[in-house]
Amino acid sequence: MNVISIEAQNLISGFYSVTKIPATQNTKNSFFTTSSFVQCHGWVPFKTHNCFASLSLKSIKQKIEPKTSVEKSGDTVSDKEGIKTTKKKKLAVFVSGGGSNFKAIHETCVAGSVHGEVVVLVTNKRGCGGAEYARNMGIPVILFPRAKDELDGLSSSDLVAALRRFEVHYILLAGYLKLLPVELIRAYPKSIVNIHPSLLPAFGGKGYYGMKVHKAVIASGARYSGATIHFVDEKYDTGKILAQRIVPVLPNDSAEDLAARVLQEEHKLYVEVTAALCEERIVWREDGVPLIQSKQNPTV
Ligand code: GRF
Repeated sequence: MNVISIEAQNLISGFYSVTKIPATQNTKNSFFTTSSFVQCHGWVPFKTHNCFASLSLKSIKQKIEPKTSVEKSGDTVSDKEGIKTTKKKKLAVFVSGGGSNFKAIHETCVAGSVHGEVVVLVTNKRGCGGAEYARNMGIPVILFPRAKDELDGLSSSDLVAALRRFEVHYILLAGYLKLLPVELIRAYPKSIVNIHPSLLPAFGGKGYYGMKVHKAVIASGARYSGATIHFVDEKYDTGKILAQRIVPVLPNDSAEDLAARVLQEEHKLYVEVTAALCEERIVWREDGVPLIQSKQNPTV
């Protein structure tokens, strides 16, 4: 049995034992970086029927009740002087590629300007740049979905259970190219956002990803493009829009030029939106449109 299948077996049986992983393991190919996982989180059982086994009914209820961004969770901690502050929000980031948005979010969390903590990275591409960065930073990496002919990778229900175990408040999709399972979307109402590199609803939907978006924008003659962050529903790019940022499309732009200009804005926008989520500054208008309250003036 190779390293990967040992990991998968341990994960599937509900226990991840560090002692079974060879010291020479190639972390590039493993979806949990053993040492960092231990440093950060110790043992984490995942299988649904195992993970709540030793918990009281009350704590099970607390674990499985959905948290929404409009609820004031009351998650407060007191420091030595008894001054209360809100606990950091726990974030799961999903990536399939380079992970520059993930990196921007993670850096601002570490620096303290965003009141959140990236507790787990989910990817469908174990070797992608985002997963590599996570391993280097000591962030556990989960492979999802389970690919054909591969033992590792979680099923939808095990993914939901794993995110619950990490006590994830918000899921941030940052270049994750798979459609999320309905089970996950229902488990995290009003708590999953995605970034798209155009001004939705234009140039969105199935097939509009990566350079295809920017080529289509240039071909259309549009003079402006940008980035959109929206809540995630069961289809591609159709959830409620939360925030947008505009950039110009210049006459001689290549798709790469435009992509780079949009990406720069994406990083700033995603950090701002993550900060708002972590500070519970999202409010929902009566017609279901989400708005971000200004930090300086919360009535706006
Ligand atoms: C971004 O352009 C984002 O809008 C799209 O995928 C790209 C991800 O880039 N959904 P990166 O992996 O964050 O660098």
